[in-house]
Amino acid sequence: MGLWGGRFQEGSSDMFRQVNDSLPFDRVLASQDIRGSIIWSRAISKAGVMSQEEQGEIETVLTQLLEKAEAGELDFDASDEEDIHSFVEAALIDALGDLGRKLHTGRSRNDQVATDFRLWCKEHIEFLRKDIIAVIASLVKSADQFRTAILPGYTHLQRAQPVRYPHWCLAYVEMLKRDLSRLDDLLKRMDQSPLGCGALAGTTYPIDRQQIADQLGFATPCLNSLDAVSDRDYVLELMFAASTSMMHLSRMAEDLIFFNSGEAGFIKLGDQVTSGSSLMPQKKNPDALELMRGKCGRVFGSLQALLVTMKGLPLAYNKDMQEDKEGAFDAVNQWHICLCIASEVIDTIELNVERCAQAASQGYANATELADYLVEKGIPFRTAHDISGQVVLAALEQNKPIEALSLEELKTFNNLIDDDVYPILELEYLVDKRDILGGTGAKPVFAALDSALAEFCNG
Ligand code: ARG
Repeated sequence: MGLWGGRFQEGSSDMFRQVNDSLPFDRVLASQDIRGSIIWSRAISKAGVMSQEEQGEIETVLTQLLEKAEAGELDFDASDEEDIHSFVEAALIDALGDLGRKLHTGRSRNDQVATDFRLWCKEHIEFLRKDIIAVIASLVKSADQFRTAILPGYTHLQRAQPVRYPHWCLAYVEMLKRDLSRLDDLLKRMDQSPLGCGALAGTTYPIDRQQIADQLGFATPCLNSLDAVSDRDYVLELMFAASTSMMHLSRMAEDLIFFNSGEAGFIKLGDQVTSGSSLMPQKKNPDALELMRGKCGRVFGSLQALLVTMKGLPLAYNKDMQEDKEGAFDAVNQWHICLCIASEVIDTIELNVERCAQAASQGYANATELADYLVEKGIPFRTAHDISGQVVLAALEQNKPIEALSLEELKTFNNLIDDDVYPILELEYLVDKRDILGGTGAKPVFAALDSALAEFCNG
């Protein structure tokens, strides 16, 4: 009859247990639950619920349990307990008998689970921050390795204007930096301790909630007990951060899948992060990247699922809220995996610098430069635009870039065109003319790259 004992005359049905029990998944909160219990035992002992000696005995057993939990040695499968909270309490009672029964004084599983889950989220934010920084570092290193490379930039997946490869890398660095700051930002709101809020109305024991918060590593206590036990915004925010970052990773994956295609041939990926085909021996597929893109479905799904679960729930705790965990555990885990594999994939990128430059030169991106050149020779822009257009047409007919046309040929369009036209038609010239903060010219790109190197790769 478990936790609620006296009031019940019959046991739960098997099907009820199946729908109600959360130990199969909330076992991952074991160490958070035990740490919260240690701090709680100190608080109620100070409030006169038990002697110091008794608290010492409880803390000793809980500390041993914590060590076991951290070593992965707790045998959950042999347990018949409903959830991680009853599991820990039962283990304590098992070791200490009646003394163990004192721990739950003044506490509810409602403030307990809210505390455990916040602690879990906070700890995972630490890991995720490191994962994000590792991806940033990989991008910055790759940018540095192919510092001067130029590749086509696209709009509508049509070649638009050439960009430097580090500019492409640093675009994703900007997105990942926002992902980092989103975590820092939501952490501030998450950093409150629900412990001491009881089932919904606060506890009757004279405990020091700020001290509990301090001991658990929270900045402050939650300020309203009804809200504290029923708030899951912190999970939602974390899943939104996960979803947004996964969306960023999926866009990077998509770019790289295209760059790696036979059609583009801009990059080669390492054998470590690609797979072959069981049928076609020539194939090397970018599976890791496809999974980074594909796993967005389940991560976005978890965010959506919890939003819908929380919608319209009356105050305060409702069992619906037990559904907050599996999706969040999975979303965080998938995000972590994708960040790790993103770093590995980026580390293997081999850029085909010539092919990138060749592709970037195609598409007559330098036609505007030719018009500007004619303007400098005194021709009005509208006329210069027209002349340049005629040159493009002629080059297109011969299937050549503008700069492959001979000077005699160019002169047939306008006699003012001279030898000095060729340097301004060059790829680098085009790119480096974007010499503006945030632009793709060598100066701004190398400055951005150097500061990213200093910030994320220790110089
Ligand atoms: N397993 C529950 C959960 O995850 C713990 C809280 C249960 N509280 C209750 N009043 N039944 O939400």
